[in-house]
Amino acid sequence: MSGKLDSKIALVTGGSKGIGLAIAEKLLAEGASVAICGRNGATLEAAAKALAKEHGDARVAAIRADVSKLDDVRALIAGVKERFGGLDILVNNAGVGVFKSVGELQPGEWHSMLDTNLSGMYYCCHEALPLLKESKSAYIFNIGSLAGRYASAGGGGYNATKFGVVGFSEALMLDHRQDGVRVTCVMPGSVDTGFGHPDTSKANAHPWKIQPEDIADTVLHLLLLPGRTLVSKVEIRPSQPPKK
Ligand SMILES: NC(=O)c1ccc[n+]([C@@H]2O[C@H](COP(=O)([O-])OP(=O)(O)OC[C@H]3O[C@@H](n4cnc5c(N)ncnc54)[C@H](OP(=O)(O)O)[C@@H]3O)[C@@H](O)[C@H]2O)c1
Repeated sequence: MSGKLDSKIALVTGGSKGIGLAIAEKLLAEGASVAICGRNGATLEAAAKALAKEHGDARVAAIRADVSKLDDVRALIAGVKERFGGLDILVNNAGVGVFKSVGELQPGEWHSMLDTNLSGMYYCCHEALPLLKESKSAYIFNIGSLAGRYASAGGGGYNATKFGVVGFSEALMLDHRQDGVRVTCVMPGSVDTGFGHPDTSKANAHPWKIQPEDIADTVLHLLLLPGRTLVSKVEIRPSQPPKK
């Protein structure tokens, strides 16, 4: 079977669960080779095993890495190069959210969000750009959020990072589009994952929510647009959220 992304090489950060896993699955289904990373080794290995069962060992790599740590990110990018020989698609998806009022939010929780959602994104872009510039079809997806446009009570730390992701993504696009690197900031509303609820995998589950596969479909659509066209920002909403 020939796929639309045959011979492409992708890295999905936070690819062991939720939206990242759905994106990894979609890219593999279209023929790409895909590396995923995460902090929890057991979760990462389980995800890689499931992906390899469906798509074969040769196109799946699992590299344990915490994107908030520069040394981990350097080893991650080196690992992708060693395993697959290059990089065409970087999906900066790894993210954490702690939802508390500013008065309740602890400094460690604030830093966990900034270090992963913002610094981690910068580290991955900075370290991957030399490889991406060698690609003939380089693409960076930064997974932002509608929380990067609308603030909410209890979202102070998370909002700060996702507003930052929007600005960072736009500057990144302006800096590197002439290098042949397309950049899209993908901004979902509520997606049906366990995000923000580490104890249960489907703690946020509601039928009206966006499914992770819907975000993966969006990423694929954008990848398949002609190279001359760059969609820099996409807002994705549940079509029928509960009425307020
Ligand atoms: N779910 C939503 O409603 C929603 C809406 C808008 C935007 N988003 C954004 O979408 C992205 C993915 O969210 P999700 O809902 O799929 O969450 P999720 O199910 O909790 O998955 C998060 C993934 O990121 C990994 N991760 C977290 N911190 C990491 C770090 N420091 N280094 C490497 N990997 C890390 C996690 O693995 P480990 O824990 O093992 O590291 C996991 O694989 C996030 O950026 C989030 O802000 C989510």
